[in-house]
Amino acid sequence: MKATISRKGHFSAAHRLYNHHWDYKKNIEIFGKCAYLNYHGHNYEYIVSITGKIDPTTGFVLSLQKLKNILYDEIEELFDHKNINLDIKEFYSINPTAENIVIFIWNKINKRISSNLDLKITLYETVNNFVEYDGKK
Ligand code: NI
Repeated sequence: MKATISRKGHFSAAHRLYNHHWDYKKNIEIFGKCAYLNYHGHNYEYIVSITGKIDPTTGFVLSLQKLKNILYDEIEELFDHKNINLDIKEFYSINPTAENIVIFIWNKINKRISSNLDLKITLYETVNNFVEYDGKK
C-alpha cells in the first residue's frame, strides 16, 4: 500500500529579481517591484509531500520526525533570515524566482530520502502565488 505524507515549513528571506544583462529600466519592465535595488522580503511557506510504500515494520512511509529534521537542516538553516541573492552561492548566478527556489529545495531534500520515494514540493511565495515541482523535466 502506498500513501503520501506531507509536512509544512516556512522561512523568511529577502531577494531581488533581475537580469544583469539588462539595464534597470528593462528589469523593472520585466520584474516590476521585484527588481528594486534594495531587495524585499517574503514569508515563504512550503509543503513537502512524499509518496511511497508503507513500511510494514513501522507503519510509516517515512518518519515525520526524520523529515522535520531534514527540513530544518537543509532548508530552514540555509534560507531563514537570509538574503537569497547574496547569502546562498547557488543564487549568485541564478535568479531567485519561486520556480528556481522550488527546484533547489527539491534537489536538497531528494538527496536525503530513499530513491524509492516520490517527492513533490509546493512553495508559496505569497498567500496567492505558489509553484510546484516534482522532479519531472
Ligand atoms: Ni519577491
